[in-house]
Amino acid sequence: MEYQQTLAELKNGILYITINRPQKLNALNKEVLTELAHAVASAQTDKEIRAILLTGAGEKAFVAGADISEFQNYNLEEGRQLAKDGHDNVFNAIENSTKPVIAAINGFALGGGLELAMACHIRIASENAKLGLPEVTLGLIPGYGGTQRLAQLVGKGLALEMIFTADMISAEKALQIGLVNHVVPQTDLLAKADELIEKIKSRAPLALASAIKAVNAGFNPKADGFQTEINEFGNCFNTDDFKEGTTAFLEKRKPEFKGV
Ligand code: COA
Repeated sequence: MEYQQTLAELKNGILYITINRPQKLNALNKEVLTELAHAVASAQTDKEIRAILLTGAGEKAFVAGADISEFQNYNLEEGRQLAKDGHDNVFNAIENSTKPVIAAINGFALGGGLELAMACHIRIASENAKLGLPEVTLGLIPGYGGTQRLAQLVGKGLALEMIFTADMISAEKALQIGLVNHVVPQTDLLAKADELIEKIKSRAPLALASAIKAVNAGFNPKADGFQTEINEFGNCFNTDDFKEGTTAFLEKRKPEFKGV
């Protein structure tokens, strides 16, 4: 598939996905969502890809939300479908990706933009980033898992305050409440993400996938987090990476994981 609104580049085992509509502050239109869905789905079966980094083009915005001009005339059914398609194909797909997904938030992360960042496993923000869920200013509520993931990350009280007021918060405040993991100057953003990913890349890939599954299960009311952990812990014993990791430790050398 040829991407028109996103850039996808595989370098050093990392798939760099850049949403590339800077003139519209990288707002999520249908094309962007389709391309993101495709990139994330393809990455799952591509053995070369060890991690995904998601960012926005330009210095102003990560993503300033869903594209308001596209859904302004939607009715109830179309609204529901919009929410469901995004949830199934993009946001949930990112959260359940077997490869770690890191968001590098390079500016505004509003509405669908913050929702996208929250679906990622780890968030790093630049100092100029502004984060918020302004949907109630449009007569909407946060979608794409926004009401759920914000409350999971920062707690119910702060989530409801952010949703009710629609206020944007600074990167520093986001760090303080656990909404992002790190804040760095904008010029250092990708380097910081690369540094983190390099470390993650040296760890056992199947173990990382199992950890994602177990942690996610704990936040899924239809799943049993503890039982998932027991199953995934057991599954690790069936991998070559487990043998390599334990052997390397005992031989006092660095492990070389193959992801099998
Ligand atoms: N959907 C569609 N277009 C958007 C957009 C969105 N969510 N966010 C920004 N844009 C467009 C603007 O319409 C403008 O397009 P134009 O130049 O053709 O008029 C362009 O991006 C630049 O945005 P602009 O508003 O001029 O920049 P600003 O610096 O004055 O303000 C924001 C920046 C982020 C405060 C402002 O764009 C904004 O409030 N965006 C909407 C945020 C939102 O409500 N998101 C939730 C959507 S569910």
